[in-house]
Amino acid sequence: MGEALSLGLRSYSSSGELYLYNPSLIKSQNLAKKVGGIVVESLEAMPTDCDWYILTFKPQSLLDFKYTFLANSKILSVLAGVDIETLSQKFPNTQIARLMPNTPSRISAGANLFYSKFNSSDFVKMLGSLGKVFVMESEEQLDKLTAVSGSGPALIFEFARSFYNFADNSGVNSLVAKEIVYQTFFGSVKLMEEAMKNNISLDELRDQVTSKKGVTFEALESMKSNHFAKLMSDAFHSAHKRTLELKEEIKNA
Ligand SMILES: NC(=O)c1ccc[n+]([C@@H]2O[C@H](COP(=O)([O-])OP(=O)(O)OC[C@H]3O[C@@H](n4cnc5c(N)ncnc54)[C@H](OP(=O)(O)O)[C@@H]3O)[C@@H](O)[C@H]2O)c1
Repeated sequence: MGEALSLGLRSYSSSGELYLYNPSLIKSQNLAKKVGGIVVESLEAMPTDCDWYILTFKPQSLLDFKYTFLANSKILSVLAGVDIETLSQKFPNTQIARLMPNTPSRISAGANLFYSKFNSSDFVKMLGSLGKVFVMESEEQLDKLTAVSGSGPALIFEFARSFYNFADNSGVNSLVAKEIVYQTFFGSVKLMEEAMKNNISLDELRDQVTSKKGVTFEALESMKSNHFAKLMSDAFHSAHKRTLELKEEIKNA
């Protein structure tokens, strides 16, 4: 995720200074080569006057992260489920914002959720280079929608895999099967894009390709009788539950 964010920010500004730290020097050196950043070998060497500091490690690494930010430093955290209250206790007198990015950010097509209690409009504009930024009204919203945008790409890839498994068993060449699936997803997203512009709902879109007693109708009926809607709803609720658990685990660590 750190790489995706660095690539996005670099595409916003080719001259902005990007200081990169990772406990593994080779990782920050490799990233620096990709994004044209400056490697910081130890946290003590990190400049103390950066406009923003971005934390992109795993929530579980927060305990081991030791750095004293100057008062009023602005920090952006992408740590899933770690709230501003917990981060403020760890980094007192700083200003903390949260971002829930997703991996399409690396190709400037992310759906990123942002929340801060202070005016961050300039930074939000810069984060636009990652795709779209949706400013949340509360941390609760951000935590809930993490299941959709943060976890979403993996769920979609899993869904696509089920298409591929079927297509690959149809006798066509595997590469062709893959291309059929990719193009089906790509074309459907394009149709969704067009439908959104024209105020056409997802139900209407689905119904446009479903004739009563037809082939697609049968497939949808099979999904219904196998409780597909419940299955997806359970997956989202499980992801949200895990976000809340993670929040408590980090709070009590
Ligand atoms: N992946 C997603 O789609 C996604 C979506 C939304 C939010 N997030 C959030 O993004 C964060 C990173 O996720 P990820 O999937 O990118 O994890 P990751 O691949 O494990 O990357 C985390 C990186 O942080 C480094 N690191 C560990 N301790 C550090 C420290 N003390 N200081 C600086 N760097 C440190 C790790 O180095 P080592 O490998 O050497 O330990 C690793 O390179 C998580 O907090 C997650 O909640 C991820």
